[in-house]
Amino acid sequence: MIPDDVVEQVAQAADIVAIISEHVKLKKTGSVYRGPCPFHQGTNANFSVMPGGGYTCFVCGEKGSVFTFVQKRLGLTFAEAVKYVGEKSGIEVVDVQRKREGPDPREPLWELNATVAAWFKEMLWEREFGQPAREYLAKRQITRATADRFGMGFAPRELGLMRTYLNGLGFDDARLLASGLLVRREEQEEPRPRFRDRLIFPILDPQGHTVGFGGRLLGPGEPKYLNSSESKAFTKGDVLYNLSSARTAIRKEDRVVLVEGYFDVVRLVDAGIEPVVAPMGTALTDRQADLLARHAKHAFLLYDSDAPGQKATFRAADVLLTRGMDVRVVTLPDGEDPDTFVAKYGGDAMEKLFGAAMDVFDRKVQLLERGGWFTNLQRKRRALDSMLPTIRAASDPLMRDLYLQRAATAAGVDRSVLERELSAPMRRPGRPVAPPERGPARGAPRGMARGASGARANEHAGDHGAPLPPDPDEQFDDAPMEPPVERPPARESTDERAIIRVMLLEPASVDGVVEAVARLEEGMGEHPGLDGGPPHASGVFRDPVYAAIFATLAEHGGAADIETLTESLDPEAIRTVETLRGEAGAVVDPKATIDAALGGLHARLNEDRLTEIDRILPLAESAEQDALMQEKTTLSRETRALDPRRGWGALRKNRGS
Ligand code: UTP
Ligand code: MN
Repeated sequence: MIPDDVVEQVAQAADIVAIISEHVKLKKTGSVYRGPCPFHQGTNANFSVMPGGGYTCFVCGEKGSVFTFVQKRLGLTFAEAVKYVGEKSGIEVVDVQRKREGPDPREPLWELNATVAAWFKEMLWEREFGQPAREYLAKRQITRATADRFGMGFAPRELGLMRTYLNGLGFDDARLLASGLLVRREEQEEPRPRFRDRLIFPILDPQGHTVGFGGRLLGPGEPKYLNSSESKAFTKGDVLYNLSSARTAIRKEDRVVLVEGYFDVVRLVDAGIEPVVAPMGTALTDRQADLLARHAKHAFLLYDSDAPGQKATFRAADVLLTRGMDVRVVTLPDGEDPDTFVAKYGGDAMEKLFGAAMDVFDRKVQLLERGGWFTNLQRKRRALDSMLPTIRAASDPLMRDLYLQRAATAAGVDRSVLERELSAPMRRPGRPVAPPERGPARGAPRGMARGASGARANEHAGDHGAPLPPDPDEQFDDAPMEPPVERPPARESTDERAIIRVMLLEPASVDGVVEAVARLEEGMGEHPGLDGGPPHASGVFRDPVYAAIFATLAEHGGAADIETLTESLDPEAIRTVETLRGEAGAVVDPKATIDAALGGLHARLNEDRLTEIDRILPLAESAEQDALMQEKTTLSRETRALDPRRGWGALRKNRGS
């Protein structure tokens, strides 16, 4: 037996179109979906499915609910059908039989978490040492009622308090350690609480189980927020903060608002805006997006107005578009986050911003336009590379079509050119080699990513006329959306290696090499195409380690001794220097070695330009095309002369060396 309210909940959550689509090829016709009837094996589209409703066949008269469909198609009992649909809809269906099979293995952790949540709450409100936390809440204008609505608590600094209390209730250390509430760094060490001196936000799964916690420091320090560690009960990428409470509102209003942080959620809900959730310090995951797409069609992205917020926005948007959601971007005034904005201007002002929210693709185009990314061929090419993944992500065919048209108009290129590129296999062109690592890698905690740069805002706010980064995606995304092509494994560039080795062994050669490289770099500007844009994605040295060594040698001239190098280089570069110096074999003819290697690097630059020309040719007007073809011929000839392995046209793949 499955309780009626659970059946009702599953029926509410189920996406009948998605579920039936797994068995019948449906096509949208007006407000319903039609396809061939699977019950009488019809061939015409007489079988109709109504989103949020049931199905009917106009020929054989079969009709029913999502449950009936699953029962009949898969031969299931009613209870099994509810479970099946529940699984696809993120609703846990527990029936009497399941209970007999034994409880969910996560049950012991849920129970523990719920108990400790109540204890954290008691620490916040009933104890002397909760005073600073209470003051903190008061300072942030969070009332007791609001705090209680979110079950907020306080984890005291004391080492043994929580453990003693929980042990007394029969929760043993093994369970406390499994939940991550206690941590033991070394075998012999006494376990210590993970959360100390932090304001606590319980995190619930959609079914209302307490699966983990987020804790905020009351003062300065790192990390500002700490989440529960991953455990059997807690997978950060599977939950959204506040989804269990917001779910009803999300369904009712058919919209969900995504914010970055706990306090943003609290503030908005407090102001009467209820369908709000937050991923917890990570980029929105596929699983999180699935959860949302199940409940609403419209998503509002309300991230911070700073650069990381903007990147996170466009990244999340692509994930949501893939689920067919309609995604809009709410733009906050500079320096505000949703919390501070609502605290200052109130919920009505926030709703006004929702009203003014822009479709995410329009917003992207707007930022590209403001950044001047449509002003020349070269930049147009990059702008398209930034737009294409978003167009591809739009799984709603109408939306995709609209985006395609807008991109074509904005870039002033033929729609058919874009269509061709959309159907071509994905690649990440224009970046033959990944640029050196900048900042923390994708997946690093948000707080760290921001802390590292020190500045939260305006690293390059494309919206405000500040200088733009060399790659338009810089403003949207801090990691390539598609894997870079032909990234040479580190230390493999033989030409770069040869040059650095000669520079290290023959200090007299350094100045000459530096000059030659500078000329090459200038030369990169000699192929401005037709428009003076930056023609190359990267510099002469591509390997970050060789580039660093070169820069140091260039800075100090031939005088750089090993101490100087050691001082300014990182350990990996120092190791490389040592390897190169220690290698047997003198440089017989430094000049010839350098000339050959520089020729190789020059050829590589040319080859990149050739690749780029092939990519911008389809975007060019015919006069421009002639000039580009001309340039191509010249470059190929020059490249073959420089390096016989290369220059046979951009059809040939780039080589790493
Ligand atoms: P923010 O740094 O934008 O903080 O982090 P915030 O939400 O505005 O916090 P307040 O207003 O200063 O209290 C946004 C979210 O990123 C996660 C948290 O979920 C946070 O709410 N985060 C942030 C972490 O997980 N760890 C951190 O160190 C920082
Ligand atoms: Mn904030």
